[in-house]
Amino acid sequence: MDLHLTSEQEMIRQVAREFADKELLPTAAHFDELQEFPTALWKKLGEMGMMGLVIPEEWGGAGVDTVSYVLALEEIARGNPALSTAMSVNNSLTCYGIWKFGTAEQKRKYLIPLAQGQKLGGYCLTEAESGSDAAKMRSTATLQGDKYLLNGSKIFITSGISGHIYLAFAITDKTKGSNGISCFIVEKSFPGFKVGKKLDKLGMRASDTTEIIFENCEVPVENLLGEEGAGFKLAMQLLDGGRIGIATQALGIAQAAYEFALRYANERQQFGHKIYDFQAIQFMVADMATRIEAARLLVYKAASMRDQGKNVGLEASMAKLFASETAMKVTTDAVQIYGGYGYIKEYPVERYFRDAKVTEIYEGTSQIQRLVIARNLLRSLAGSH
Ligand code: CAA
Repeated sequence: MDLHLTSEQEMIRQVAREFADKELLPTAAHFDELQEFPTALWKKLGEMGMMGLVIPEEWGGAGVDTVSYVLALEEIARGNPALSTAMSVNNSLTCYGIWKFGTAEQKRKYLIPLAQGQKLGGYCLTEAESGSDAAKMRSTATLQGDKYLLNGSKIFITSGISGHIYLAFAITDKTKGSNGISCFIVEKSFPGFKVGKKLDKLGMRASDTTEIIFENCEVPVENLLGEEGAGFKLAMQLLDGGRIGIATQALGIAQAAYEFALRYANERQQFGHKIYDFQAIQFMVADMATRIEAARLLVYKAASMRDQGKNVGLEASMAKLFASETAMKVTTDAVQIYGGYGYIKEYPVERYFRDAKVTEIYEGTSQIQRLVIARNLLRSLAGSH
């Protein structure tokens, strides 16, 4: 499917597609098997401008639009979903957050190396007791002289090992609920920053995910991002964009599994025919392709609205919900088409099946996306009177 794309958008997609075909598809199983982050490939993405796509060139980015970003991210996810997690978090959350809410000095110090791919970013929001209910975090930040002291622990942090710079959320005023949460730019090298256990995951195994512990972690006062107390809203605004990224990643996973299944169905012989000749398989493939097209349209719509400066909370959640459920359905059917070969590691579809699952979980579960959608619908009803 193709909407009308500009020549720049076409070119960015082509560059990402060639990189995925040449460097990512042939190596993804290796990094998954070893549970190893592909550092050299991330560095190459940085050199290609892929780690800060929408960030203006003066701040180290590629200065392109959100549509270009999703075109590129889909291709990287098709090639190596785990690497696309780091790419999405770095682009949509860490870089975008510092660009939108940071001071010139924060942008100079942190945004430029993150967008250029010299440093890798992460996002420390979730805690053991506050996942979907993100506002119920316990981590605190107490101002002492010219530093905040952060205490608490975070869990499920993407790039906990490979990353260098994190946006971390903590309570600065416990009397104010979600209006008492603040956001900080935290360097891994700050005293009191500890990387906890590396988590042994079902999928996305080449993306390292860890606990992060703050023990009197010393964060200079100038590293407060945005206003004190504005952190929760900042987190939610960033997740609006982050969810477009995860929707795109789900789309890339679904596209890859579909392409493998289509080729396999056209080669595999049973009962004297290639299995594609059987209507049972044709219908599965037809549904896969149709769902993927629908997911892609939702992703493009959300990206294009963002480029028009519109609020995308509703559209980002719709895109993420539909694309991640599509990824799960398409990868399940791809494994089915491969039969026994789909269940073993010699063939790629079992990995896409494992990788797809988390897109229904992180950056807000499918249930939270439905909740966000429903709340937005009610708001639009109130606005129509
Ligand atoms: N933009 C701006 N402001 C927003 C907003 C948005 N999208 N969403 C909410 N707000 C504002 C509200 O207007 C409200 O403001 P007031 O106090 O002025 O009224 C305030 O924030 C609190 O909002 P809610 O009352 O709606 O908050 P809530 O406690 O009911 O929670 C939620 C809302 C949608 C459930 C939220 O907690 C949520 O999104 N949960 C899921 C958490 C999540 O996605 N975690 C992902 C972790 S990050 C990750 O996975 C990254 C990775 O590494 C891959």
